[in-house]
This record gives sequence, structure tokens and C-alpha cells, in this order.
Amino acid sequence: MAEKLELYRCAICGNIVEVVLSGEGELVCCGEVMEKLVPKIDELDSALKEKHIPVVNRLDDGIEVIVGSNLHPMEENHYIQFIEITSPDRKNITRKYFEPHEIPILEYKCKCPTPTAIEYCNIHGLFKSI
Ligand SMILES: [Fe+2]
Repeated sequence: MAEKLELYRCAICGNIVEVVLSGEGELVCCGEVMEKLVPKIDELDSALKEKHIPVVNRLDDGIEVIVGSNLHPMEENHYIQFIEITSPDRKNITRKYFEPHEIPILEYKCKCPTPTAIEYCNIHGLFKSI
């Protein structure tokens, strides 16, 4: 069963989907069950963590999310494809997409509690703020 806001990837074609609302069925693409994406934390060395774990900073009028504490490269073949933030009550989601050479920062104006942030690197996969 797929749960709300989970991400799944097709190992064959690379499609990535997010579950808007939960259902009983399995997600299938290219004739195969899709792989659930789970944020990476433990299996990486500290240099990879520094470049991938999203950092959430409070601003006077909102928040900013930057990837990571040591800015991730944004090269043609290795870059952050999106950053997404989810409010603590999981009712509001904001996603920003990136192209190579852009700076991987998402700014969101709100008087909201600190959200959870995730980002997706086209080489290293999914990471979540701590
Ligand atoms: Fe990366």
C-alpha cells in the first residue's frame, strides 16, 4: 500500500511519482513494481552528507531551504532536480524544480512552523532534512 507523500521510482524508465492520496494497490511502471524511495542518511560518508542533506533556515518572513551545508554542485550531469517542503501537519506541500547551473535554494514566505524538507539528486538520490 502506498502512503500519502511517498515517492516511488521506476528502475527501468526513471519515472518518479509522489502519492497524492493513499490507495490499496501497488504502483507499477514499465510492467514492474516501482521502488519506494527512502531518504539516505546512514550509508553515506560525511562529505556526501554535507552536500546533500537539506538545511532549513528561518527567515524573518518565512523559511529557506538550501542543499546542503556545503553547497551541492549543479553540473550538467550531476545536480539537484527538486526540493520539496512539507508542513508539520502534512497539509501543505511546495516543490521547486532546478536545472543545472541554478542555485539549489527554495524560499517560502510563511508564518508557519518549520517544515520538513527533502531533495532529490539525480546521481545520489533522495535526502531529508534532519
Ligand atoms: Fe549528488
